[in-house]
Amino acid sequence: MSKLLEMLGCRYPVIQGPIGMFNSPEMVAAVSEAGGYGLLAVGFINEGDTVRRLIDDVRKLTDKPFGANVVLLNPSSGEFLKILADAGVKTVTTSVGSPRDIYPVIHDLGMKGLHVVLAAAHAISAAKAGVDGLVVVGSEAGGLRTTGSESSTMVLVPLVADAVDVPIVAAGGIADSRGYRAALALGAQGVQIGTRFLASEESPAGAAWKKAIMECADGGTGLIPLEDTRMAQRLIITPWIKEKLADPSVKNLTALLERNPEATGNFERAAFGCGQVGALIKDIKPIAKIISEMVS
Ligand SMILES: Cc1cc2nc3c(=O)[nH]c(=O)nc-3n(C[C@H](O)[C@H](O)[C@H](O)COP(=O)(O)O)c2cc1C
Repeated sequence: MSKLLEMLGCRYPVIQGPIGMFNSPEMVAAVSEAGGYGLLAVGFINEGDTVRRLIDDVRKLTDKPFGANVVLLNPSSGEFLKILADAGVKTVTTSVGSPRDIYPVIHDLGMKGLHVVLAAAHAISAAKAGVDGLVVVGSEAGGLRTTGSESSTMVLVPLVADAVDVPIVAAGGIADSRGYRAALALGAQGVQIGTRFLASEESPAGAAWKKAIMECADGGTGLIPLEDTRMAQRLIITPWIKEKLADPSVKNLTALLERNPEATGNFERAAFGCGQVGALIKDIKPIAKIISEMVS
């Protein structure tokens, strides 16, 4: 058994990528029930009680192992780690922030942690800081990125594999068995999947978001900078976003985007998060089928 599978305690080395504010106990449980490792995203939560309720909701649906992604810049991350440890979570992922001070806390709580990195230099310093493993995210991935130049999964995973001794999980651009096998060949012990699970039956994404992923063509996503930061988010470039990108009078496109079009009905300005791999996704399937096909 690989070190990663030992840490996760699940059947397949397939981790569900956290999707920001879209916490879905149903999706977390579906991934864990299918043999993968479901992850709650507690980074954008303020209240410990919300974390407890989400854990309870997952536990009602599965007795299989699951974890959570903890955002280190969240001032409540120490409290959340204790709640997770008390609930029996064995392994978490950590992102956005230095792992140096928090890993001794994670270990004292009897847990292990995988730190999320977007670049080789950060992977090396995280390994030196005592993380138990790394989630190495290539530039094609969905979610938040930096606006600086970054390497794709194909380059970054072997670079990191050559430089560190801890287990590596590859993320970005993986949607099927070809991507899964490629990630293992590059030196990863497992994969983290974002966009393919968003386009699943159990995903909390609305129908319009899932349809946009299925219709996303090659080159259909782009990085939209977050004003006054060095960060950007990868979104589907809709006709409206394309028009605004070409308009020099638009200074802060992010502020004009609609994050919850299903609720407001404003689909024209929708911000549909999606990795480049959306171009490979042509259907909506149950998570159990996605995982079984991926590892077959
Ligand atoms: C809409 C969206 C939101 C995301 N939010 C987060 C997040 O809050 N924290 C995080 O660590 N990763 C986040 N990610 C990244 C995923 O967890 C995962 O690493 C990434 O999607 C993998 O690349 P893929 O989309 O090509 O599978 C997000 C991804 C998407 C598509």
